[in-house]
Amino acid sequence: MVVLHQKVVVERWWRCSFLALILTASLGAVHGGDVTYDGRSLIIDGQHKILFSGSIHYPRSTPEMWPNLIVKAKEGRIDVIQTYVFWNLHEPHQGQYDFSGRRDLVRFIKEIQAQGLYVTLRIGPYIESEWTYGGLPLWLHDIPGIVFRSDNQPFKIQMQRFTAKIVNMMKSANLYASQGGPIILSQIENEYGTVESSFHEKGLPYVRWAAQMAVGLQTGVPWVMCKQDDAPNPVINTCNSMQCGTKFKGPNSPNKPSLWTENWTSFVEVFGGKPYLRSAQDIAYNVALFIAKNGSYVNYYMYHGGTNFDRSASAYVITAYYDQAPLDEYGLIRQPKWGHLKELHATIKSCSKPLLYGTQTTISLGPQQQAYVFKSSSTDCAAFLENSGDMDVKIQFQNIWYQLPPKSISILPGCKNVAFNTAKVTVPSNTREMKSQIQFNSAEKWKVYREAIPNLDDTSLRANILLDQISTAKDTSDYMWYTFRFYHNSPNAQSALSVLSQGHVLHAFINGVLAGSAHGSPGDKSFIMENNVKLTPGRNYISFLSATVGLPNSGAYLERRVAGLRSVKVQGRDVTNQSWGYQVGLLGEKLQIYTASGSSKVQWESFQSSTKPLTWYQTTFDAPEGNNPVVLNLGSMGKGITWVNGQGIGRYWVSFHTPDGTSSQNWYHIPRSILKSTGNLLVILEEESGNPLEITLDTVYTT
Ligand SMILES: *[C@@H]1O[C@H](CO)[C@@H](O)[C@H](O)[C@H]1NC(C)=O
Ligand SMILES: *[C@@H]1O[C@H](CO)[C@@H](O)[C@H](O)[C@H]1NC(C)=O
Ligand SMILES: *[C@@H]1O[C@H](CO)[C@@H](O)[C@H](O)[C@H]1NC(C)=O
Repeated sequence: MVVLHQKVVVERWWRCSFLALILTASLGAVHGGDVTYDGRSLIIDGQHKILFSGSIHYPRSTPEMWPNLIVKAKEGRIDVIQTYVFWNLHEPHQGQYDFSGRRDLVRFIKEIQAQGLYVTLRIGPYIESEWTYGGLPLWLHDIPGIVFRSDNQPFKIQMQRFTAKIVNMMKSANLYASQGGPIILSQIENEYGTVESSFHEKGLPYVRWAAQMAVGLQTGVPWVMCKQDDAPNPVINTCNSMQCGTKFKGPNSPNKPSLWTENWTSFVEVFGGKPYLRSAQDIAYNVALFIAKNGSYVNYYMYHGGTNFDRSASAYVITAYYDQAPLDEYGLIRQPKWGHLKELHATIKSCSKPLLYGTQTTISLGPQQQAYVFKSSSTDCAAFLENSGDMDVKIQFQNIWYQLPPKSISILPGCKNVAFNTAKVTVPSNTREMKSQIQFNSAEKWKVYREAIPNLDDTSLRANILLDQISTAKDTSDYMWYTFRFYHNSPNAQSALSVLSQGHVLHAFINGVLAGSAHGSPGDKSFIMENNVKLTPGRNYISFLSATVGLPNSGAYLERRVAGLRSVKVQGRDVTNQSWGYQVGLLGEKLQIYTASGSSKVQWESFQSSTKPLTWYQTTFDAPEGNNPVVLNLGSMGKGITWVNGQGIGRYWVSFHTPDGTSSQNWYHIPRSILKSTGNLLVILEEESGNPLEITLDTVYTT
């Protein structure tokens, strides 16, 4: 029995959380079908609203999990589910769409509607989101003359086509609020303000075009652009900074409310990355402060993160996504976070009337203490007493003494009695345990297939230069072989091999034998491998396996990013412009030997005690009883990819340790819905030399 400590962490809580600030009293409501807004809040069916929103991304869980996740969000007093739309998942090949299974966006939104919650649909279609290539399909890269996210005709044609397709799909299913559906807001583009200047004179016209294009699609609900000061009318520009209170220039039109798109801690969870925890108290404090400063919409990024299945994570991002969210990777409630925020939401909702219809005043109570008071009549009142200092203090508010814990906000519905303090957690904590159900420790149960190491003579793709891996592999595989022939005629068998790679991982084979490995890091993707290798006199076959661990997801000019080998030297001789042979992907991938039908296409052997690099392992197992989530403990393995019943459950990279010497992720989620009761096919591709005999299948409990 193993207790999983809170190691793998949520680092970015709010990606785009909106805080509406009152501007002037003269604002009229802007109409968008049944959803309108004024300076105070969104107005839905004529009602002003305080809204708590939580991000849940449909492809990071399974359709079977969705209803339960949404129910738990609703029980946590969440009003809105926010999701991105994942273009490269829906259109993996140009013009060939896929909205099946985890990709069934309409079904996801209908599940939300069935629970009576609203939806914010962030179409992008560039989304970042720690998703490979920021959600853009790789085939865009091959369109002549294309420049992504710029005033560039080839890109705009594709972006408009996909955006219109999604909008029309929503309309046909009557999913916009203006049609009686749950979608109350849409987003076009994503934090473009952070890269706009890189596009020089092509930036502003693109923003104008994107807004006009989106509005022209007539969804009947408002559009927002986060982090976009120059968002054209009627798209709402929103602030996205830690200092929106002081740095935001405000709305760019008197008819728009001021929306604050927060961007709190902004780490991503990466392989080899250091853990970071954010407490329930800290989250609650910041949310309460949003509301106290006239905020009316707060989004948690993520409320449930889920799993980066297959190869969907972006560069270096681990397979578990925001496991520390109020609902963990498996959809289990994480306490006290979930419960503390639920109480906060309930308390704030009980103050809705003064919050939405009262006048806000800020009163100083001390050097680091203030009261934010909302009053609509002598009886309708709500107060937020903030202590931003590090010491416990006693303050007087309306002739009554209150004890304020450090870094906290007390909420007083009725302006008298404290109903909630953000620093006082009353909800009991829970712990998560993994209980081992199946041990894969008998060698007879494993079958093994060794991936062939190709040499130059095996390859048909040739070039006299080192090719870029991203544009050559085209996101069909993490792997690409670079092979060449080297004639060695010095008496010295030891030779220096020096390789510069632009990312992410490299294994060097000399005459079929592993001669060295190296990898970059999330901060520095390029790296140099310097090794002394043993060459045989005469002809030597040198093969490099280069692996990407997800494609980049952020920054300007994504279409120019490269990976793979950049230069190679043997014995001081530059062989960069040699005759190279290439192979994209592994043979096992090509034959899909991880599926029941593909498995028979190769000859599997019995398990040998000495494990070798680039080995496929195969076994079968029965589903554990019950309904608890199922995970695979791969703590004894190195780096690779895992499939269950032909479905990719993600990359693992246990051997890339954090500075503390632990691995970033040991447990890998197998959704119950992909399991049969007996005979489930488990296939693991191990690049290094992991030990499959120590793998266990566990179930997850909270106590
Ligand atoms: C916002 O988040 C991004 C990562 O998504 C980060 O690069 C940026 O520095 C953050 N900005 C602020 C102002 O926190
Ligand atoms: C909140 O709105 C009121 C108007 O009702 C305004 O006077 C006040 O300055 C605003 N407070 C903050 C913190 O922006
Ligand atoms: C290899 O060829 C490229 C152009 O194809 C050239 O820019 C580069 O300098 C050459 N490198 C060497 C080491 O010859």
